[in-house]
Amino acid sequence: MPDTRVRAHARLRPVGRIAYVDGRYVRHDVAGVHIEDRGLQFADAIYEVFGVFAGSIFDEPEHLDRLERSLREIGLAMPMGRPALQLVIREIARRNRLRDGLIYMQVTRGAVRRDHAVPQHPPPPSLIITAKSIDMNGFEDRRRSGIRVITTTDQRWARCDIKSTALLPNVLAKTEARAAGAYEAWLVDRDGHVTEGSSTSAWIVDGEGKLVTRDLDNAILPGVTRRIMMQVAESAQMPIVERRFTVSEAQGAREAFITAATIGALPVVEIDGRPVGAGTPGPVARRLHELYRHAAEVGAAERSHNSTGSG
Ligand code: PDD
Repeated sequence: MPDTRVRAHARLRPVGRIAYVDGRYVRHDVAGVHIEDRGLQFADAIYEVFGVFAGSIFDEPEHLDRLERSLREIGLAMPMGRPALQLVIREIARRNRLRDGLIYMQVTRGAVRRDHAVPQHPPPPSLIITAKSIDMNGFEDRRRSGIRVITTTDQRWARCDIKSTALLPNVLAKTEARAAGAYEAWLVDRDGHVTEGSSTSAWIVDGEGKLVTRDLDNAILPGVTRRIMMQVAESAQMPIVERRFTVSEAQGAREAFITAATIGALPVVEIDGRPVGAGTPGPVARRLHELYRHAAEVGAAERSHNSTGSG
């Protein structure tokens, strides 16, 4: 008989969701890890989020590359080989009848008696994979209306290039945004430059019509969507510059927008209460989003064709 908390969770979750936890497919509402799991105890864990559209997993190789890199940076091995991981991702999508939404994956350093130092003989890593359906009409409404952004101090650590689950500053920043009626919080470093959003990459279109996003270093996550956007923009001869920008430059920009898996590009129409450009979604962000969607759909179709062809 499940305890009251488990029953409360069951009420919150759609019936039939299935999670993958350490080699088993289990009911999402009762799935869990050990209380000594280092992901829970220390946020000693790495995660990835894959967007899924019309049943296709977008930018999968790039997300797996980033997963591998993040794990390597904290001295964790991939929990299984890439082909096996891809099979589990597909199986989770299938078991959850996922059409539009996301796949969430987390690898932790496993469950072991609590001690800050990584044990000399660490336990096997824990692997959790879940699927969440999303009504994409909500994003399309936001693409038409644009979103509001607030700015707040970037209080994160010095290795934001690692996709770690230690997200407390991001959680607080996003909560501040929601309390202010905004969709996202842009994080601002000590020099007054925008680093990125609490869970998205930040972009502007400058006075010359160039796409501007911060250059990659340890202060930001190397967004997969950011990278694909840059590739499609380059192929479409849209000029791009990777450089820092301030809040006031963003407020005075022609356009501003955010990017991330699942959302693509979403136009920002207001920053800290000041309208950006005409205060309505701009043409550059829209074009970029369409190019991105097209490229991702073509990529997914090619991969599915190749995997069918090979057996
Ligand atoms: N967030 N910057 C931060 C801090 C992020 O957390 C994310 C992704 C991005 C965009 O990365 P990508 O284009 O690879 O999704 C940038 C995910 C979606 C999340 O935390 O849920």
